[in-house]
Amino acid sequence: MWVELICGLVLFCLLMLYLFDDGDHLDLDTSHSNALFAVANRLEQLYYGSKVYVGLQIPDADSGSRQNIDMVLVTKGEALVISVMNISGFVSIDKNGNWVCTAGLSNKTKCLPDPTVETKRLVPILEAYLEQRGVVLPEGYLSGKVICPNPNFSAVDSDVFPPEVITYDQWTQLKPEQRSMLSGWIKGAFRSAKKEMQESLNEKLCSTLSTAPMWDRLELKGNKYILGEFMEFKGKQDDLQALINIRRSKVSRLIVQKISMFGFARSTLQVLYSPHDYRNEGAASSEWKEAMVRSSTEVVFQPNNSTKVRKYKLSSVISMSLSA
Ligand SMILES: *[C@@H]1O[C@H](CO)[C@@H](O)[C@H](O)[C@H]1NC(C)=O
Ligand SMILES: *[C@@H]1O[C@H](CO)[C@@H](O)[C@H](O)[C@H]1NC(C)=O
Ligand SMILES: *[C@@H]1O[C@H](CO)[C@@H](O)[C@H](O)[C@H]1NC(C)=O
Ligand SMILES: *[C@@H]1O[C@H](CO)[C@@H](O)[C@H](O)[C@H]1NC(C)=O
Ligand SMILES: *[C@@H]1O[C@H](CO)[C@@H](O)[C@H](O)[C@H]1NC(C)=O
Repeated sequence: MWVELICGLVLFCLLMLYLFDDGDHLDLDTSHSNALFAVANRLEQLYYGSKVYVGLQIPDADSGSRQNIDMVLVTKGEALVISVMNISGFVSIDKNGNWVCTAGLSNKTKCLPDPTVETKRLVPILEAYLEQRGVVLPEGYLSGKVICPNPNFSAVDSDVFPPEVITYDQWTQLKPEQRSMLSGWIKGAFRSAKKEMQESLNEKLCSTLSTAPMWDRLELKGNKYILGEFMEFKGKQDDLQALINIRRSKVSRLIVQKISMFGFARSTLQVLYSPHDYRNEGAASSEWKEAMVRSSTEVVFQPNNSTKVRKYKLSSVISMSLSA
């Protein structure tokens, strides 16, 4: 009797493991990327008609490397390079400009280099990249901001923060209808410029940023976002055959829908085929197509801040966007 019971228990555990093993992503810290997308969504809601580009990797000719930009916000008359500091605790600034964070029961203190310095450093790098792609911005059009969206962020003295920093209190106070609050950091200096000129600049800026190098993104169930690089699909041969065309050069977005047919779990993938080639603009036409594969098919993904490659079953994926 005991033998049966133990065997039953072991089988049950194996079954549970099988059912709930959605790859090994549980230990991955996604709080930074989740914060990025939470901030990006709120900004797009606050500034009607604005566009946010998350997770850019801008080539820097001087250093010969790519520079991470958390996000760029493009509004009607201005663009901002935004760094998100999802830090919590009591934050003050020391005499060298470093941020001193005190958090936790033990009042552990952490010292961070002034994030406004890094953000301001990225502005001319992005300007140079845009210029190289034919988008010349008026001086001062692009500037940098640091947003602290963590509800547990507490400024010891809010007066010490430079105007480039949006503390949590200021972040919560931003309201769409509050034009005066906006102009605090959306300067409005370019409002007087010719409307058509502004619109065409805006359009050019957006189309250039949308084809700039950025991290691929994976949106998982439970409001989780991962930035990194899509590697490949893993699964049964016939499924892989159906997915063979899903490659960076052809596909920009993939949305997963689940269906269950006769007890066999399948996922319908809605795939946006959209040529990324920005050199022949206009010629690019995009179209949605569908593919149906087993939900156990896996997406192999390399998160940008992890050394380990991760696998995610389609059953846990909501969408994936591939960079140009
Ligand atoms: C910020 O980080 C905390 C943990 O440090 C995390 O719980 C939270 O989801 C993150 N995102 C936001 C928007 O605060
Ligand atoms: C990953 O990308 C985010 C968003 O651009 C960036 O803040 C972060 O520094 C990157 N991490 C690494 C290790 O490159
Ligand atoms: C931790 O620091 C805060 C703010 O400076 C203070 O109010 C609190 O009493 C400190 N707690 C401990 C255990 O030292
Ligand atoms: C804020 O602090 C509270 C209490 O320490 C904690 O329960 C909560 O998870 C924290 N929130 C974030 C977003 O870090
Ligand atoms: C990934 O990012 C989070 C949040 O920024 C950080 O706490 C963690 O140490 C990073 N991991 C690696 C491997 O860089």
